[in-house]
Formats: sequence, structure tokens, C-alpha cells
Amino acid sequence: MAMQRKRLKLVVTLMINLFIFILIFRHSSQDKNGRQKVLIPSEPFWAKVTPNVAYWNRQQQIQDLQNNPILSANSSDTDLPDWLSETTLTSDPCERNIRVTTQVKDYNSLPDRFKDFLLYMHCRSYPTVMDPPDICKEPPFLLLAVKSQVSHFDRRQAIRQSWGQAGVIANQTVVTVFLLGNATVWDHHPDLSHSLQDESTRHQDIIQWDYRDSFFNLTVKEVLFLEWIQARCPGARFIFKGDDDVFVNTYRILDFLKGLSEPKARDLFVGDVITDAGPHRDKKVKYFIPESMYVGKYPPYAGGGGYLYSGDIAARLHSASQRVPLYPIDDVYTGMCLKKLGLAPEKHKGFRTFDIEEKYRSNPCAYKSLMLVHPRTPQQMIQIWTWLRSPDLNCQ
Ligand SMILES: *[C@@H]1O[C@H](CO)[C@@H](O)[C@H](O)[C@H]1NC(C)=O
Ligand SMILES: *[C@@H]1O[C@H](CO)[C@@H](O)[C@H](O)[C@H]1NC(C)=O
Ligand SMILES: *[C@@H]1O[C@H](CO)[C@@H](O)[C@H](O)[C@H]1NC(C)=O
Ligand SMILES: *[C@@H]1O[C@H](CO)[C@@H](O)[C@H](O)[C@H]1NC(C)=O
Repeated sequence: MAMQRKRLKLVVTLMINLFIFILIFRHSSQDKNGRQKVLIPSEPFWAKVTPNVAYWNRQQQIQDLQNNPILSANSSDTDLPDWLSETTLTSDPCERNIRVTTQVKDYNSLPDRFKDFLLYMHCRSYPTVMDPPDICKEPPFLLLAVKSQVSHFDRRQAIRQSWGQAGVIANQTVVTVFLLGNATVWDHHPDLSHSLQDESTRHQDIIQWDYRDSFFNLTVKEVLFLEWIQARCPGARFIFKGDDDVFVNTYRILDFLKGLSEPKARDLFVGDVITDAGPHRDKKVKYFIPESMYVGKYPPYAGGGGYLYSGDIAARLHSASQRVPLYPIDDVYTGMCLKKLGLAPEKHKGFRTFDIEEKYRSNPCAYKSLMLVHPRTPQQMIQIWTWLRSPDLNCQ
């Protein structure tokens, strides 16, 4: 019995080898001079792309096909698959895109924030309300960009008085800006626009765009900021972008940046990197994403609490972002854009977006070698900054 099985196995192996041989032989036919002839198929040999059922993935497929230079050079619109016309928006991309209501299969049962996101997913340009004109007249070595909200006056002031002090620090020019959307009456926000106007006049460091400042619109903030850098601050050597509830050790960051050499400095993107993550499918989680919206893993991305990158990367991200559909979670979106560029963020253990051990939190020396700690209140920011500046601070 065993003998027979062995023989059968041998025969099968021989047949497979013969088959492969025939395949190779047929394909490497020679021309009459005995040279190897390369066979070129007369028709496209790649598989037809079938549309993904998840809405975001499908939008990305469509953009990839539309941006594919070989396909677009050699096909007219009529050659492209029918489903591609799905995104050909008939009018202004900033008008409500009612078609998503039927294109996303469970649209009607999704939480409101998804409906809002989907309806305006194709809109990336909103009017600028505040934009201090000369903020980058002298291109800074380090641009600190802080995601804030209208009502967070105390956080912004604490940052100005501590780690976000603009001017010359450790011989390098530092510029700080706060990135804001609009706190709408619709979301029951009190009208603080006059106080904000006063603050802006006094400090000249607020950039505000007129769109609804919600969690799912943070990606809008990201693309508007990338646009802003190119228009208003293209000379910034390095950029830190983070939240207004973190402490940043600006001294440590400057020290780190000054120590970088090329090409590391040019390709810099560091933070608290999360790898092998994917969308949360539990409806109760803040980061929940339904399967009708996205399938697949997330590329490596740096947690949105704060990350550091070069001006060169900022320019490349700006162009990549035009080829990646908006995604409701901003730090994941930035990871997606980096992936488009063939890059991945690098993990640096100085970024502590999940805080440090409790027993070290009131030890001044614990902060000396760190770049970022999250979360910290305005008072804590000022306290830690005072420790770090003190000439008496003596850490081994
Ligand atoms: C398009 O096809 C023509 C022949 O049909 C070929 O000569 C040309 O190189 C192709 N262009 C691209 C960008 O593939
Ligand atoms: C700043 O620059 C001056 C002159 O170039 C130098 O003497 C000084 O040590 C520098 N200070 C720091 C903190 O790098
Ligand atoms: C912000 O929203 C409010 C109310 O929704 C609106 O009146 C205002 O025009 C919007 N824009 C700015 C820049 O405040
Ligand atoms: C994003 O902002 C736009 C413009 O204000 C708004 O219409 C849309 O509903 C917002 N999206 C979310 C998810 O809040």
C-alpha cells in the first residue's frame, strides 16, 4: 500500500515537472538567429479590478485607477469600468454628496458622525478666517503646530508660557501656531468669537478655518494645514504637530534635531508609532469604523498626540494627500499618506502618548530626556517647564 502511494507521488511529481518544462519551453521560443525572443502578450494580462465593497477602499481604488499614468494615457473614459463614474461628482465637491446615502450599504443605520463625514468627504477646501500674515517671514528652524479648539484659551496660554514660547530657543528660531476650526452653534457651543478675535490680535498665532471642528473633521484640519505650510511656511526646517493637552520638551527636540545628519534629517518622521493595528469594530469605541466604510489593516502610523517631521516630508505629504481620500481618523490618515510615499514613521521612545509611570510623574528629571508626554493640564505644563529651565536642575 505504502509502496503504491510512493510510486503515485513520484509519477505526479514527474508530471508536474514536465508541465512546467513545457510551459517554459513554449515561452522561450527563439527567433531564426537563435536569439531568445521575449513574448509580449497582445492583450492586458492583469486582472480586472473589481470594486471593493467598503466605501473608503473603493474611493482609493478609483483614485488609483484615475492617477495611473499607463491607464490614463491609453484609455478613454469609456474604457474604464462603470463603477468608476461613482465619484465623478456632478457639481461642487463641497456640496452635500447625497449619493453616498445609497452607495454605503448600511448608511441609514450608521451613527450621525459617519453620515456627516460621508456627506462631505470629498470637500477639502474651507475659507480661512484667521491667518497671521508674516508669521514665517523668517523661516523657522522648528514650527510647533498645535491642534486646538476655540474654547481652549487656557491650554493655549499655558503653551505660550511654557513649551510653545516662540522666539529663539537654544539658538534656534521657533514659531508656534494654533490650528482651529469653527465651534458651531449647531453643536451648542457658546459664541466665543469675540474673545478669540482679541486673543488672535494680541498673539498673532491663530490659524482658523471655517469648518465644523469635530473629531471626524481632524483630517480636514490635517489637509488644510499641509496646504498652509506650502503656502505660508514652506521654509520651515522641521515641524512638530500635536494636541493641546501634551507637554513637549522643546529643548530635547531641538537638541535631537541639531544632531541629525542627512539624509536622516530630510526624511524625518518620528513619533509614538503604532503598527499592526486595524479598525475597531466595537460600536462603543471612539475609534469605531464600520465594515461598510473600511476593510483591511492600518499602515504604521504615529499617534496623533504629537509627532515630528521634516519640511521636506511636509511637502511630500501635501502632494500624497491629494491622492488619498479623507479618512475619519487623522493620525491613521497621515500614516496612509506616508505609505503612499513608500515611507513609514519611525518609533522614538521619547514620545510618551500613553504617559510615564505614575511614580515618576512628579520627578523633574523624568522629563529631561523625553520629547512628549500626554496628557498634561495647563498648570502641569507650566510646572514642568519651570523645572526644566531651572539652572539648579541636576540630573545624572
Ligand atoms: C499606449 O499605447 C501605445 C500603443 O498602443 C504605446 O505605443 C504607448 O507607449 C502606450 N503608452 C503608455 C503610457 O503606455
Ligand atoms: C549659541 O551660539 C553661540 C554662538 O554661535 C554659542 O557660543 C553658544 O554656545 C550657542 N548656545 C547654544 C545653547 O547652543
Ligand atoms: C461659525 O459658525 C457660526 C455658527 O454656526 C457662524 O455664525 C459663523 O459664521 C461661522 N464662522 C465663523 C468664522 O465663526
Ligand atoms: C466637517 O465640516 C463640514 C463643514 O463645516 C461639515 O459640513 C461636516 O458636517 C463636518 N463633518 C463632521 C464629521 O463633523
